[in-house]
Amino acid sequence: MLARIMGTGMAIPKLRVTNDDLAKIMDTSDEWITERTGVKARHLAVEEGTSSLAIEACKKALDNAGMDAHELDLIIAATVTPDHLLPFLSGEVQAGLDAMQAAAFDMVVGCSGYLYAISVANAYVKSGMYRNILIFGAETLSRIMNWEDRSSCILFGDGAGATVIKASEEGVICSVLGTDGKAGPALGCEARPLQNPYVHNEWDYPYVKMAGQEVYKFAVRTVPRSINEVLDKAGISADEIKYFVIHQANLRMIEAIAKRLGQSMDKFPACIQETGNVSAASIPMVLDKINREGKLERGDKLVFAGFGAGLTWGASVLTW
Ligand code: UT7
Repeated sequence: MLARIMGTGMAIPKLRVTNDDLAKIMDTSDEWITERTGVKARHLAVEEGTSSLAIEACKKALDNAGMDAHELDLIIAATVTPDHLLPFLSGEVQAGLDAMQAAAFDMVVGCSGYLYAISVANAYVKSGMYRNILIFGAETLSRIMNWEDRSSCILFGDGAGATVIKASEEGVICSVLGTDGKAGPALGCEARPLQNPYVHNEWDYPYVKMAGQEVYKFAVRTVPRSINEVLDKAGISADEIKYFVIHQANLRMIEAIAKRLGQSMDKFPACIQETGNVSAASIPMVLDKINREGKLERGDKLVFAGFGAGLTWGASVLTW
């Protein structure tokens, strides 16, 4: 049996912040942000938290799948910005959904989190250990951005995207995953410093630090390579793929990836214009957008692919 997506859902905070809004509080412009990234607006959490956004997205995904929370046997969260270190996010969501019979755990793989989570879910389904799995990415990245660093904060937003998976004859065909820990410092964020009776450290930069151009080059090189690798493994050509659902990091980057694959941009749906980069939530968010627009038909072949902190990357090919 394979992991098949039966339903999708997403949630974003109420507060919508346009590029012009940001230009009022920092030295930037709509023109610069649009031209370099394609982002026009992002939604930032004020009243919401990572768990409330996640619960909203998961309820919508369950509803879309026609599945009751009590039927879930596993919940996997992908996040780097939970509301609490403990209890962890998937446990909070399990409680919020009243899915008390489901096991739950979090994965911390940055923007590649959803890709890692779906390949883990597929392995569980193939092994027969779990049948009904909820996977979601949820982030309030605004809490770890330095709002005085205009080269990074303009890119990101908050939100959640969820998918409900069921064991089925068709589903995820295969996946490739990769990590280059040596390149990790290109996109980092310090953890809470060591503090105990024997050592005292100040938390001097508790924000995301990003070497933007390095990450850009890494992504444009690695994502097409991993897509070609997963397609080869599946014995499917790029022309047979209806949609390439790519991590929404930068619209220019997605255009460069489409060009390298020799595929039209029509096959690369996007939501980044309205959401910014929402890390692990971005792939299920775009998927939900095209699902709600009625653009997916059972039997369609899709590719999910992305990259992120670690540095990591991943790609999956699947039957919708
Ligand atoms: O999920 C993975 C997360 N990360 C990524 O995907 C990041 C990938 N990288 C990128 O998307 C791009 O590198 C950025 C959009 C982040 C930045 O674009 P860039 O073309 O690499 O710009 P830059 O940082 O090299 O800066 C170019 C210029 C600089 O000015 P000077 O030194 O040329 O005078 C910056 O100070 O643009 C300036 N600049 C800005 N100007 C207006 C940087 N940020 C801004 C800004 N508004 N927000």
